[in-house]
Amino acid sequence: MSPKQWKPEDVSRLAHGFWASATLHAAVGTGVAARLAKKGPATAEALASELGLDPRATRMLVIAMHALELAVKQGEAYALAPGLETLLDPDAPRSLNNMVMHMADLMPVWSHLAESVRSGKPVEMPEKKDSNGEPAGRAHFYRAMRDIARQQATGTAARLGLASGQSLLDLAGGPGVYGLTFADETPGLSATVFDLPGAKPYFQEEAALHPRGGEVRFIAGDYQKNDLGGPYDVVWLSQVLHGEGPQECRELIAKAASVLKPGGALWVQEFVVDTEEPKHPWPALFSLNMLVNTEEGQGYTAADICGFMENAGLTGCSYEGPTREGSPASLVKGRMP
Ligand SMILES: C[S@@+](CC[C@H](N)C(=O)[O-])C[C@H]1O[C@@H](n2cnc3c(N)ncnc32)[C@H](O)[C@@H]1O
Repeated sequence: MSPKQWKPEDVSRLAHGFWASATLHAAVGTGVAARLAKKGPATAEALASELGLDPRATRMLVIAMHALELAVKQGEAYALAPGLETLLDPDAPRSLNNMVMHMADLMPVWSHLAESVRSGKPVEMPEKKDSNGEPAGRAHFYRAMRDIARQQATGTAARLGLASGQSLLDLAGGPGVYGLTFADETPGLSATVFDLPGAKPYFQEEAALHPRGGEVRFIAGDYQKNDLGGPYDVVWLSQVLHGEGPQECRELIAKAASVLKPGGALWVQEFVVDTEEPKHPWPALFSLNMLVNTEEGQGYTAADICGFMENAGLTGCSYEGPTREGSPASLVKGRMP
């Protein structure tokens, strides 16, 4: 494929692309999106009055939402554009509100990307707490993981070949959407989610929505220090490696391998970086997200991940392609001999 021929307007669109992102963040963060999703069309004045916002600024926001096709105009009232009534309803099963708010939380850090490229270090930000005393952004983070996983998890159990009678560890499973969905889709599967104690409330919140939620076990622990239980037939390690440096990845994969039964499978889901012919910009951008946010995290190639697996004694490592068609997340599989 020949390289893209850039025009001035292309550069301009990319340079100010964050204005559109910030408009979406504000639509969700102010409650405008949720209000329109739940109660239907409203004028800017009505939105400002119901949500306690500045009337002039709210009018500017909804005009921008209209210009970005996030909203449609009905007389003087604004409604969410088709599809967004459920995607931006915070209580809808496929809601993306928390993912949007997590992205909004990341904006200040990303504005210092150039500094991280100079120093190789993450961006330092003052520590903040939410109103409930939790580290700021934690609720958005775990619920964003949930929102993203809910878009991906359905149907993946079959892809993994999970079967009744097997045991599965969803390692660093966060809110546990994958382990819970795999259990729902595989009667007779015994599923365990392992994550830090701070993830437990978000797991419990999610488990309450799943038919087999009460049967899925949550082990609270640190994967670098604590026992993972087992042995298991399958370990599912989704979106975890990118948060760690190569040595920690080697150790984590070795630990995951150590709790596999002979013949068991380790499935890694990651935003696998393709340095030669990237099909999607997301994995490379996600790698930069790890640069600004973590000490040593980064995106890994399929060869890197297979290297970690081979180092752990796993065999037959294979890149299995995107988790779902068009998804930037992909699967890599290895087997315990
Ligand atoms: C990006 S999230 C992925 C969550 C989930 N696997 C998914 O795909 O939606 C990374 C997870 O790793 C967990 N984690 C990070 N460090 C950990 C540690 N030392 N021990 C256990 N879990 C850890 C985080 O709490 C978080 O749930």
